[in-house]
Amino acid sequence: MEENALIKLDDEYVEKMFLGQTDNPIAMSGLSLTQVEQIIDQMVEYKKLRMMYTCALKEIRTKFDVLNTEFSVRYQRNPINFITMRVKSTHSIFEKMRRQDQKLSMKYLIENINDIAGIRVICSYVDDIYLLAQALIAQDDIHLIREKDYISNPKPNGYRSLHLIVSVPVFFTDQKKDMKVEVQIRTIAMDFWASLEHEMKYKKEIPNQQVIADRLKNCADVISETDMTMLDLRREIEAAGNMEKENDTEQLEIESLLEKIKRLDDPIL
Ligand code: GTP
Ligand code: MG
Repeated sequence: MEENALIKLDDEYVEKMFLGQTDNPIAMSGLSLTQVEQIIDQMVEYKKLRMMYTCALKEIRTKFDVLNTEFSVRYQRNPINFITMRVKSTHSIFEKMRRQDQKLSMKYLIENINDIAGIRVICSYVDDIYLLAQALIAQDDIHLIREKDYISNPKPNGYRSLHLIVSVPVFFTDQKKDMKVEVQIRTIAMDFWASLEHEMKYKKEIPNQQVIADRLKNCADVISETDMTMLDLRREIEAAGNMEKENDTEQLEIESLLEKIKRLDDPIL
């Protein structure tokens, strides 16, 4: 069978076959019935695999949602601003395998491509990143495969984020599967920089590449400083609040009681 028969069949024949635009699609493809069956089986398997990665993302997302809700009851604030997730597009998977000089193989894909399922958790403050990462890793169904801390060790271009590759068990009707998920945790500020930098990367034909790279790196450093200042400010405000509690007067006692009453309301879901 031709090396890229899977792609060819996907593009040209299967579509026509399913649309009923040809009476004899198999003869048209030049493949035997068994070969066509094998290829379709592989395509169905691939679709099943994508579904399994989607489910793994749902599991991880729920874990972060739970942590966010619990945190909001405990500390009256949400550490997570928003979460995005995606299953890598087939196009990007093909590109990545081509870059790695690999033939199309489901086995290779499962074993070596760690970012098929990707979730991005955007936090308010830098300390929330580590708090959430630790709370996730501590869960006994989560297995940490790899951790890259681009916050303590930013990339030379200024990129900052905490990356985890974890595996999570997912329960299906008749089996349990450990699925790999790439988790990227970063602040709003880090996300702002990474999103714009990613966009700019595609525009390669501009002159003064080095000047632009230097200015982008400078932006990343300014942003990081701002993140640190924001964290300091929050901590100072929290510390001042605690001092107030220690010097309680009757008025403050009432205020503190009212604060506690607020906690009885349901957390933001
Ligand atoms: P891949 O890059 O996915 O092949 O794997 P890797 O093992 O080199 O992963 P790494 O953890 O370094 O980065 C994975 C992901 O982080 C990328 O796919 C991006 O989403 C993000 N990332 C890494 N470096 C940069 C960067 O310089 N800029 C931006 N915007 N995103 C980055
Ligand atoms: Mg990637």
